[in-house]
Amino acid sequence: MALKYAAILSVVACARATTDDLFGVRDDLHFSLASRATNLDASTPVYKNPKATIEDRVNDLLPRMTVAEKVAQIIQGDIGGWMNLNDPLDDTLTFNQTGLEEMMRLKGGNLWAGYLAPYDKFVYAVRIGQKYLMENTTLGIPALIQSEGLHGFTNKGTIFPSPIGLAASFNPDLVKQVANVTSTEAEALGINHIFAPVLDLSRELRWGRVEENFGEDPFLTGEMGHAFVTGLQSGRRRNTSSTAIARMAATCKHFAAFGSPQGGLNLAQVSGGERELRTTYLKPFNRACLDSLSIMTAYSSYDGIPAIANTHLLTDVLRKEWGYKYFVTTDAGSVDLLISLHGTCDTRECAAKISLENGLSGEMGGGSYTYLTLQDQIKAGTVDVKYLDDTVRGIIRAKFALGLFENPYPYDDYESFIRTPFSNKTLQQADRESIVLLENHNATLPLKKSLRSIALVGPQADRVSFGDYVFYNATLNGTTPLQGFKQFLNASTSTKINYAKGCELWSNDESGIPAAVQATQNSDVAVVMVGTWSLDQTLLWTPGTNATTGEHVDVADLGLVGAQLKLVQAVKATGKPTIVVFVSGKPIAEPWIQAHADAVLQQFYPGELGGLALAEVIFGAVNPSGKLPVSFPRDVGTTPVFYNYLKGSRPLDPGAVMDDGRLNFGHQASRYVLNSPLPLWSFGHGLSYTTFNYTDLKLSPSTIGTADDFAVSVTVRNTGKVDGQEVVQVYMTDDISSVVTPNQELVGFAKISIPAGASTTVSIKVTSSQLAVWSLKNSWIVEPGSFTIKVGTSDQTFAKATLTVRKP
Ligand SMILES: *[C@@H]1O[C@H](CO)[C@@H](O)[C@H](O)[C@H]1NC(C)=O
Ligand SMILES: *[C@@H]1O[C@H](CO)[C@@H](O)[C@H](O)[C@H]1NC(C)=O
Ligand SMILES: *[C@@H]1O[C@H](CO)[C@@H](O)[C@H](O)[C@H]1NC(C)=O
Ligand SMILES: *[C@@H]1O[C@H](CO)[C@@H](O)[C@H](O)[C@H]1NC(C)=O
Ligand SMILES: *[C@@H]1O[C@H](CO)[C@@H](O)[C@H](O)[C@H]1NC(C)=O
Ligand SMILES: *[C@@H]1O[C@H](CO)[C@@H](O)[C@H](O)[C@H]1NC(C)=O
Ligand SMILES: *[C@@H]1O[C@H](CO)[C@@H](O)[C@H](O)[C@H]1NC(C)=O
Ligand SMILES: *[C@@H]1O[C@H](CO)[C@@H](O)[C@H](O)[C@H]1NC(C)=O
Ligand SMILES: *[C@@H]1O[C@H](CO)[C@@H](O)[C@H](O)[C@H]1NC(C)=O
Ligand SMILES: *[C@@H]1O[C@H](CO)[C@@H](O)[C@H](O)[C@H]1NC(C)=O
Ligand SMILES: *[C@@H]1O[C@H](CO)[C@@H](O)[C@H](O)[C@H]1NC(C)=O
Repeated sequence: MALKYAAILSVVACARATTDDLFGVRDDLHFSLASRATNLDASTPVYKNPKATIEDRVNDLLPRMTVAEKVAQIIQGDIGGWMNLNDPLDDTLTFNQTGLEEMMRLKGGNLWAGYLAPYDKFVYAVRIGQKYLMENTTLGIPALIQSEGLHGFTNKGTIFPSPIGLAASFNPDLVKQVANVTSTEAEALGINHIFAPVLDLSRELRWGRVEENFGEDPFLTGEMGHAFVTGLQSGRRRNTSSTAIARMAATCKHFAAFGSPQGGLNLAQVSGGERELRTTYLKPFNRACLDSLSIMTAYSSYDGIPAIANTHLLTDVLRKEWGYKYFVTTDAGSVDLLISLHGTCDTRECAAKISLENGLSGEMGGGSYTYLTLQDQIKAGTVDVKYLDDTVRGIIRAKFALGLFENPYPYDDYESFIRTPFSNKTLQQADRESIVLLENHNATLPLKKSLRSIALVGPQADRVSFGDYVFYNATLNGTTPLQGFKQFLNASTSTKINYAKGCELWSNDESGIPAAVQATQNSDVAVVMVGTWSLDQTLLWTPGTNATTGEHVDVADLGLVGAQLKLVQAVKATGKPTIVVFVSGKPIAEPWIQAHADAVLQQFYPGELGGLALAEVIFGAVNPSGKLPVSFPRDVGTTPVFYNYLKGSRPLDPGAVMDDGRLNFGHQASRYVLNSPLPLWSFGHGLSYTTFNYTDLKLSPSTIGTADDFAVSVTVRNTGKVDGQEVVQVYMTDDISSVVTPNQELVGFAKISIPAGASTTVSIKVTSSQLAVWSLKNSWIVEPGSFTIKVGTSDQTFAKATLTVRKP
């Protein structure tokens, strides 16, 4: 969902069917036209039978529907059609009868409900809508009720770290619980469809939406996405049929290749071919989304084909090859973009036809509702009803899978589902595990609680920086680092906190720097918090506001904005140990900080307990265990910087501009003359307060056939003095392949807790399909030969072995 929600309410003139227009109903069946929801022989219609199989119910319902009813299923409506939800504080429980009837007649199948509203009013609105559909329409088809939940349920639910931070935990079980809480908090209010997770890859760092992704790697993204979908969907709504398989529809988005827009500009075209599509962009979707009850298309075009009208992608691959059978929806307003952005249509009729026939997808609001033209196009024979039928099958199948025909209503005791102790416990763990320790020279960290004083400096020190996809005022429930430090360093210690903002995030004004230097001089150590910032879904889209990350907020530079670097340099110049904390939604390219700070921590936009978690990590109450899901470049001009580049793409012997201004020219041909394409910190990097030693790497077996899986086992010892969690990472290189393959790629990982002095043996399974290349013949083939398997932490390899794949 993206374009302004307000636009959704504009109703466009359309050819509307009269209520007695039965066009499209098959009347050769076992029901009468006058009473389509009952059978001629008085038996219960199969679609109303909770015990019947989902397929039988779909096949029974579809022929009873008119074309108008089918079209209404797949155009997104809005609960704002019958309730005034413009004032988030208004609690008036009245609805608009005319608005209700009109909404349900034209767009009653799936309804946007992403409003900030008092819960009793929200629940009232949903109940009115579902009751009307169930009891006052001919067929009684309940609606999908939709909202956002990328990192927490947005209508005053618990806010977790942004997806990039969740990914940094490298802990799929934790991500599953985050999604579980998000789902639980939304479910009770009657929401049954959430627009998450995002499975785009952060390979183009200028793009504003990097924070919404699980990082740059297809495998990590697929694992996190799978955990998220499982957490959202697992379970069953109350009082539903035993055939229901989910309590919430997840939405994998944005299908596909949306995350690499040209120039980093949102919505811009993406270049690439079939091999890149298969081996990179589609992998996470294939892993995570086959059971996801919904998928959302991308706004962009790929290789010149708009994603929403890409038959190859949406029909040949998704539906036919993968067998995907649920609801595909376009993103907000994107059907109209065929006319206004891509220039592949000049009429709404064309846009609706092209999008339906190629994508078998519904139309989300935010545009002109081009799908309202479908009934006439079908009557005129220009659109074949079979495409409409296939699309409708997907959405009603999702509804049966959710058990909505049995109970689509909110629960009376919804309060008890929201912000529970389990929500808070999951939040606390997510905030702790998403922090990444990037540098720690001379064991500067952890700090001792016996310190006399600490300077907390910087524009992020007393600010709650949530990522995008939270609602207005959500930050009021967040903990700033200053608050977190105070809570942590409570009456039990005498450590004094000297706070100074130093500068604003958004200004070159250096007048606050002397006070920050003074605070540092008065303290034993300084923690300087700088970074990027985003805004909530209201402010982010309000003209006159400013941000450096988030949807539609793309940048041309990845360095710190304004006076922030000067602030860090001035603090460091005092000679006091200087710990830099980046609070951000994407990598920050500041090589000076990497070279000079005594310690560096990365906190991707946190959840509500972020400030406290930071204090816990800095003082060692929590041992950091996060790893980077995305590589940090030295400069925007050295991007892309992702670690899994194809062989031959990053020549070495780089040049550099030295701190003192000297120019060190790199030598051999074709590298950056005055910079390096190597990252400051690579994917998978993250330190701990303890150390781990890897021994006894074994491949079982070490020689396999082309269709065999294998396991990688290794013994990891905690060789330090404190307990810790390690992320064991398995990388693979296909030594010789018929097409160019990545220099290395992650094929497995496991996060394990190891007490100080203890050791654990882990075994990580790798499937043969992970070895396959998309061959010159356009098919997946595991090619015989040798594969190098590396096991360790990040780019530091501790152990290596060779896997041999035999000729068949
Ligand atoms: C947002 O928070 C402010 C400050 O507490 C409050 O006055 C205002 O009513 C809140 N607005 C909404 C929509 O919750
Ligand atoms: C009720 O909804 C109808 C149809 O959308 C609209 O024309 C009318 O203005 C609404 N009435 C009120 C009081 O909002
Ligand atoms: C639904 O139908 C009942 C019975 O005809 C009627 O009393 C009720 O007002 C209708 N509800 C709505 C919201 O239209
Ligand atoms: C903040 O949290 C409280 C409960 O602690 C909750 O009642 C309130 O709705 C939350 N507000 C927002 C904007 O999330
Ligand atoms: C979700 O959390 C609840 C505890 O609140 C637990 O009972 C349930 O098993 C969890 N679901 C999943 C899929 O982990
Ligand atoms: C719905 O389920 C709840 C428990 O999940 C149960 O207490 C209640 O009786 C059920 N209601 C109906 C109408 O079956
Ligand atoms: C959530 O956990 C934090 C950290 O333990 C605690 O400070 C806070 O009071 C808890 N919040 C609730 C609502 O229980
Ligand atoms: C670490 O400490 C040693 C000795 O105290 C000092 O010489 C060195 O410069 C320090 N290194 C860093 C990176 O701070
Ligand atoms: C202070 O915080 C510590 C850890 O955060 C906690 O164990 C202790 O109970 C707190 N003491 C007081 C007086 O709040
Ligand atoms: C940026 O936004 C902040 C509020 O978030 C505002 O205080 C500040 O004046 C803005 N700065 C500029 C340069 O627009
Ligand atoms: C790890 O342990 C092995 C065996 O105890 C030892 O030979 C090796 O030097 C250690 N490696 C590191 C990096 O500590």
